[in-house]
Amino acid sequence: MTRRLASFSFAKRVPSTPSIGSTTVTKPDHIHLSFGFAAPHLFPIDQLSVSAAEAVTLHGRKALQYSGSGGPGKILKWIQNRSLVHGINAELNQILVTYGSTQGIDLATRILVDPGDHVWVESPSFFSALQAFRTAEAVITSFPIDEDGVRVDLIENALLEAKRNHKPIPKLVYTMPTYHNPGGVTLSVEKRKRLAELAETYNFYILEDDAYSELNFTGNKYPPLYTLIPERVIYLNTFSKIIGPGLRLGWLIADQHVIDKVRLLNLGGSIGVFTQEILAQLLENFAFQGHVDSLSRHYRKQRDVMAEAIKESFGEHVSFHLPEGGFYIWLRFDDHVNTSEFLQDAANRGVSFVDGKSFFVKPEGYQYARLCFSYVSEEQIVRGVKILADTYFAYLNNPVPS
Ligand SMILES: Cc1ncc(COP(=O)(O)O)c(C=O)c1O
Repeated sequence: MTRRLASFSFAKRVPSTPSIGSTTVTKPDHIHLSFGFAAPHLFPIDQLSVSAAEAVTLHGRKALQYSGSGGPGKILKWIQNRSLVHGINAELNQILVTYGSTQGIDLATRILVDPGDHVWVESPSFFSALQAFRTAEAVITSFPIDEDGVRVDLIENALLEAKRNHKPIPKLVYTMPTYHNPGGVTLSVEKRKRLAELAETYNFYILEDDAYSELNFTGNKYPPLYTLIPERVIYLNTFSKIIGPGLRLGWLIADQHVIDKVRLLNLGGSIGVFTQEILAQLLENFAFQGHVDSLSRHYRKQRDVMAEAIKESFGEHVSFHLPEGGFYIWLRFDDHVNTSEFLQDAANRGVSFVDGKSFFVKPEGYQYARLCFSYVSEEQIVRGVKILADTYFAYLNNPVPS
């Protein structure tokens, strides 16, 4: 006999929609232009298997023990040194290893945002971040991006107006200044400086999500916002795009009193100490710069193949910004196009992408689509873009009745 339990009331703060980024399609020849995944053949597997064995032998007993909230010092030291290359000068006690940078977003939100507090984001923005802000019951306001990042002038106007009308100033402005996901754009140096000044004047935190900055296709350098106003920036980065996302390791850099608050939330001690030991062992003897250079060369080639394929297959029907780094091309169709309406047909034909609306706070962005060039082969990029274009032209000739 099956027992029927009474319906149960789950906590109000559980998100009502799942986060995007995975698909249920399992057909082996399906082309995933939706996945923001690293290229699996570039994972440093051989080195990791040696490091894993060494870590177990050399540090296994310590690594398998409970650890205080600091975690293994070697990895903090590595992060400190690597950050210096990007101009970030942080003490070891200002660095905290996180369960990926997504956890950094969540932790920063939890220490700063009470229900009803204001969080300002870019439109489009990273869907998991939006999920974190929604779950925190923040009031989210979004500001458009253009070719050189978020419209800081509009943020400034909104701040002025808020001050004038005694309206709330944001607690947090969340931004992906370098190789934006999904927009592919990079915030100009001038706008970075202005945003930093605004954070100081209006007293808000900037949550700087820097997940892609190592994947630099041009050699152009941009100062992290953290370097401009360290006491008002919570800086996030991750090993996901440069070593492998399955490690689930990222890091947060911030002012000491922010770190102290975040530590209060670290209930189980340090994150994945055993994995950290393996990674620390890898990084100790790893030609990291050579590794990221070769990742960048590979992904730049993938970007070029995708950009060419798009021009070839779509012609004048789309426009996009050629990203200087990262994983994504953000396609813009004519305003009457709704990419959600051919998402399923594309999947049926063998290609997936993420529809524009998924990246926006309000119901908008229907005319966009995010394509990711990192996870698939060159051949799949060309074939996938062609299938997508066929799907789009079929939709154009026979649009879904509204
Ligand atoms: C902007 C941005 N931040 C964070 C992440 C997630 O990183 P992690 O795997 O470190 O949680 C991603 C992954 O797609 C991302 O695009």
